[in-house]
This record gives sequence, structure tokens and C-alpha cells, in this order.
Amino acid sequence: MLSAIVAIDRNGAIGKQGQLLCRMPADMRHFKETTMGHSIIMGRKTFESFPKGALPGRQNIVITRNRSYAPQGVTVAHSVDEALAAATMPGEVFIIGGEQIYNATFPLVDTIHLTVIDHKFNDVDAYFPRIDMRSWTITEQEPHPADDRNPYPFTFMTLKRKKTSRP
Ligand SMILES: NC(=O)c1ccc[n+]([C@@H]2O[C@H](COP(=O)([O-])OP(=O)(O)OC[C@H]3O[C@@H](n4cnc5c(N)ncnc54)[C@H](OP(=O)(O)O)[C@@H]3O)[C@@H](O)[C@H]2O)c1
Repeated sequence: MLSAIVAIDRNGAIGKQGQLLCRMPADMRHFKETTMGHSIIMGRKTFESFPKGALPGRQNIVITRNRSYAPQGVTVAHSVDEALAAATMPGEVFIIGGEQIYNATFPLVDTIHLTVIDHKFNDVDAYFPRIDMRSWTITEQEPHPADDRNPYPFTFMTLKRKKTSRP
């Protein structure tokens, strides 16, 4: 099963200047709990945005066109197909971004673990593909208010692609 996991703002933005939109510890915890023990697939730029390199407890698969790229602790792939074939951990395989890799894999994804941050960020430069809600069913929805550690209200959602709507 191929899933995407992503945090978007009200406009579908996901990042700015190579970084996330904001620091949301609750979302980072949700990301960790959801992906732990699984294979995660990401673009080279997203991998390089991690402060401490590969994320522990998961198979980190990094997609790049650079044949000599070989950072420690990751499986390197040179195409989406190669990345999908390289996934060895059990259960869901997660596409974790960024924009280029979400775009390239969107037609293949059947589940989206979506965090919607209830805010419109300025100066954004990366977006998630447009989600046409006619093609998806919301199976889980969990709203949270802002608190002293998480600056904006946010909602954890799970979307499943309707069987009849694969593009
Ligand atoms: N909000 C969220 O949940 C979330 C999650 C993840 C990332 N982000 C944000 O997204 C932004 C990064 O997105 P991005 O689109 O700039 O970068 P990206 O998708 O992370 O990485 C792009 C790189 O992936 C490689 N690549 C892309 N398509 C490929 C293909 N078909 N075959 C082989 N290699 C391929 C290339 O690497 P080479 O240049 O090395 O060839 C390309 O430069 C950042 O702001 C990040 O913080 C947000």
C-alpha cells in the first residue's frame, strides 16, 4: 500500500526556502508514530533538510539523479520506480515529500495522511498536488486547537482514494 504523508496549509502549501512552513511538535510526533518501522521515500532536497540525517527506525529511501550520491544510512534510488522497488520494510510505504516527489507519485498513492494547518503562510514556494475531493473519502478526522507548543490549530485527516477514481 502506497501512502503520502504531508502537512499543508489552507492553500495547499508545504514549504518555503527548503524548509517546513513552521514548527509543529504535535505533527512531528504524529509523523514519527505513523511512519515508524516502515520504508519512507523522499526527494534529495527533503532529505538534506533533516538536521540529523536519516530518520531512525525507518528505511530512508532518497531519490536523486546524481549517480555518485551516497549519504550514510540511506538507500539511494535514481527514479520513483527504483525507489518503490527498493522498499523492504513491512506494511505501508510512505512518500514523505517534497513537492517534486509528491507530484511524481500522486497517481500511485491510495492513502493520504494529511495534516491541515489552519493558517495561510506567506512566501511559500512548495505545494502538495491539488486534492480533488470527488476522488477521495475522508476516513479519519481529528481537529486540535493551537496550544503553547503548536502555534496554529490543525487537523489530522486520513483520505482514501475512491476505487473508481484512479486517474
Ligand atoms: N509539509 C510537508 O509535509 C513537507 C514534507 C516534505 C518536504 N516538504 C518541503 O518541500 C520542499 C522540498 O520540495 P522540493 O520539490 O524542492 O524537493 P524534493 O522533492 O524533496 O527533492 C527534489 C530532488 O529530488 C530528486 N528528484 C526529483 N524527481 C526525480 C526523479 N524523477 N528522478 C530522480 N530524482 C528525482 C532531484 O534530486 P537531485 O537534484 O539530487 O538530482 C531533485 O532535485 C521543502 O520546503 C521541504 O521542507 C514539506
